[in-house]
Amino acid sequence: MATMESLIGLVNRIQRACTALGDYGGGDTGCSSIRCRRWWSDNIDMIMKSVVCVTSSGKSSVLESIVGRDFLPRGSGIVTRRPLVLQLHKTEGRKAEFGHMPRRRFTDFSLVRKEIQDETDRITGKSKQISPIPIHLSIYSPNVVNLILIDLPGLTEVAVEGQPESIVEDIEKMVRTYVEKPNSIILAISPANQDIATSDAMRLAREVHPTGERTFGVLTKLDLMDKGTNALDVLEGRAYRLQHPWVGIVNRSQADINKNTDMIYARRKEREYFASSPDYGHLANKMGSKTEYLRHLESVIKAKIPGIISLINKGIDEMEAELDHIAIDAGAQLYTILELCRAFDKIFKEHLDGGRPGGDRIYGV
Ligand code: GDP
Ligand code: MG
Ligand code: NA
Repeated sequence: MATMESLIGLVNRIQRACTALGDYGGGDTGCSSIRCRRWWSDNIDMIMKSVVCVTSSGKSSVLESIVGRDFLPRGSGIVTRRPLVLQLHKTEGRKAEFGHMPRRRFTDFSLVRKEIQDETDRITGKSKQISPIPIHLSIYSPNVVNLILIDLPGLTEVAVEGQPESIVEDIEKMVRTYVEKPNSIILAISPANQDIATSDAMRLAREVHPTGERTFGVLTKLDLMDKGTNALDVLEGRAYRLQHPWVGIVNRSQADINKNTDMIYARRKEREYFASSPDYGHLANKMGSKTEYLRHLESVIKAKIPGIISLINKGIDEMEAELDHIAIDAGAQLYTILELCRAFDKIFKEHLDGGRPGGDRIYGV
């Protein structure tokens, strides 16, 4: 049976091929490359990606806890200023690699954080500008679920000194391009110490996706709520109903970050928080950063596979037709993508056959 790893490996190869096409295709030949690349990004690109959107509410912290490593720049203000496309690979060894420096392998995660900051600055300058050009980072570890996650700048952060007034709009536009893709999953993260009714994450999720089956609600900062209040209305689905259960989270505070407290300490503190909480004790095994909600995410993503197969087949047909009448150079590049799509298709089918007896019949593929 094919694994999520092999799927992610293929996604990477196709993405690299498409990027190369976009970069080097020019003139008449470029047209078909660009079309091909657009086809990919409109249809397939978001498969197996989870998108994190939101206000400055702990999204980078949540991503770190999913990965189980400290490696993201965090803090107050717009710390995340370029999209970070984070591909998680479940493997024996532990390392990290950036798309922009493929030959360098990182094992010290504090250097990963520094490189994210440096690479952000390379494009945006030292200013507080944002850029839609993503940074690609792969993390290999035995402790991760195979997923592709995207960390995005926060939605409501207002323009500060040195930023153009348009920054609020620019960020929303950037986030929309990710969450609008029909194959993306929205991890809508909101802080518990703000009214969920005013959450921009929920507003955007509802706008682009009213039926809600690809939105996961995550509530952070439970520890920062006013004494005497709790978030049970949200966590139990009364305040804002979603198709998947809400997950409550306690991340490290800024004081914890300043003291360099580590991930193990953070998770232990979170577990203790839920276990000893008079409000959330009955939900304790459903709350926190290492709950089954990640598995749940993975299974929702896998359920998208049948739909993707038919998209890929359609793409293969279109590319085959196009191969007949384009220049040789572009033809060779297109052929590479076509081959990868065929491999992709094959692995998906194996995945279905191996994973679900009778899958063919159920999905009609
Ligand atoms: P982002 O801007 O949405 O990516 O948020 P960050 O992950 O950078 O976090 C912003 C600030 O909020 C940091 O100072 C974090 O320490 C703090 N923070 C995030 N989540 C929590 C939480 O659950 N509890 C507490 N006390 N602080 C948090
Ligand atoms: Mg951030
Ligand atoms: Na922030």
